[in-house]
Amino acid sequence: MEDLITLHITDLSGNEHKIQAPTDMNLNVMEAIRANDLPIKATCGGMAMCATCNCVVKSNHTLPEMSEDEEAMLDEAFVLDIEGSRLMCQIPVSQEINGLQIQLGELTAE
Ligand code: FES
Repeated sequence: MEDLITLHITDLSGNEHKIQAPTDMNLNVMEAIRANDLPIKATCGGMAMCATCNCVVKSNHTLPEMSEDEEAMLDEAFVLDIEGSRLMCQIPVSQEINGLQIQLGELTAE
């Protein structure tokens, strides 16, 4: 299917997972990861209110600008100083992020 993209996820143990996600279902990266049964906390369910879906972006993709809520949440969680930190629930699954490489953040541990 041409509306599937590939995401490369490195988990907290250093294992790499290649997952596919549809671009036509209004998903975000956190939801795509959960749908592929990778364990992440994501406590607030995608409302930018918990930071337990944090990740570090390793590839050079251009992502949507951070909202004030996302920036504040990362700041509160003391992970903002890690370059490339984002909340996965705030990154929409779209063709623009095909091939995205991310490392799951420590706060995602269940
Ligand atoms: S799931 Fe809570 S901030 Fe993303």
